[in-house]
Amino acid sequence: MQRFQYKTVLVTGGGGGIGGATCRRFAREGARVAVFDMNLEAAETVAAQIRADGGQAQAFRCDITERAAVDAAVAAAQERFGPIDVLVNNAGWDVFKPFTKTEPAQWDKLIAINLTGALHMHHAVLPGMAARKAGRIVNIASDAARVGSSGEAVYAACKGGLVAFSKTIAREHARHGITVNVVCPGPTDTALFADYKQGAGNPEKLMEAFTRSIPLGRIGQPDDLPGAILFFASDDAAFVTGQVLSVSGGLTMNG
Ligand SMILES: NC(=O)c1ccc[n+]([C@@H]2O[C@H](COP(=O)([O-])OP(=O)(O)OC[C@H]3O[C@@H](n4cnc5c(N)ncnc54)[C@H](O)[C@@H]3O)[C@@H](O)[C@H]2O)c1
Repeated sequence: MQRFQYKTVLVTGGGGGIGGATCRRFAREGARVAVFDMNLEAAETVAAQIRADGGQAQAFRCDITERAAVDAAVAAAQERFGPIDVLVNNAGWDVFKPFTKTEPAQWDKLIAINLTGALHMHHAVLPGMAARKAGRIVNIASDAARVGSSGEAVYAACKGGLVAFSKTIAREHARHGITVNVVCPGPTDTALFADYKQGAGNPEKLMEAFTRSIPLGRIGQPDDLPGAILFFASDDAAFVTGQVLSVSGGLTMNG
C-alpha cells in the first residue's frame, strides 16, 4: 500500500530504534523521508538502508535543542523533498535516577531534548503547514507521561508537557487542517531502554517484572510503533486530533 506517495515526512531521532523503524515504514509506504538526528552516522545508516530497498530518504544532522540548527535542517529538507507534510517528533533521551539524586544541569538537558526540542520543531514547521492548510504532526511521548514512572521524574514531566502542548496545538491549528496526536510507547527494546535496564541495577529482574506486568506478555519492539504513528499521519485519521494512544502491550489502560 502506498498511503504516503508524494508525501514528505520528517522524523526526528530517525537514526534510533523507534525512529528508524518509523522511517523505514513510511518509506515502504511511498514517502520521501527526511531522517533527522544529532547522530548523523545513525541517520545515514537508516537513510542508506531505505535507499537500498528502493525508497527515498536523506539524512540530516540536526540537534533539536539548537534553534538555528533546526531552522537550517528544516530548510535543507524542504529544499530536497518539498514542503513537510508529516512531522514526527520522536527524538528523546533520559537518565534513570530517583529525582532527589538528580542535578539541575541534568534537568536542563532533559527539558532541552524532550520538550524544548519538540517546540523548536513545531515552531519551524507549523507556519508552512498552516499556510498550506494541511499537515499531520505525531508526537512521541511515553506512558511515563500518563501514569508516571519511578526514576524518570523530569523526563515524565517533559513528556506530560508534550501531551498538553500537543492538545493545545491541535486546538490552535484545527482550523488550518492540521492534526496533532500523540503516541506513548511503553518499554521498548532500543538503546534508550538498554540504558534504563542498566540504571536499574538488576536488568534481569526488571525484565521479569515488566514481562509479568505487561498483559501481552513481552516488552515492545521498535516495529510495534510505526502502525500507530502512520495511522495518525494518514488520511484515515483525518478526523482525529488531540488524542493520545499508548502502544505498550496493555501496560497502562484507562476507561
Ligand atoms: N524505548 C522505550 O522504552 C521508550 C519508552 C517510552 C517512550 N520512548 C520514546 O520513544 C522515542 C524514541 O526513543 P528510542 O527508544 O527509539 O530511543 P533511541 O535512543 O534508540 O533513539 C533516540 C534517538 O534520538 C536521537 N536524539 C537524542 N537527542 C537528540 C537531539 N538533541 N537532537 C536530535 N536527535 C536526538 C538519538 O541520537 C537517537 O538516535 C523517544 O522520544 C523516547 O522518549 C521510548
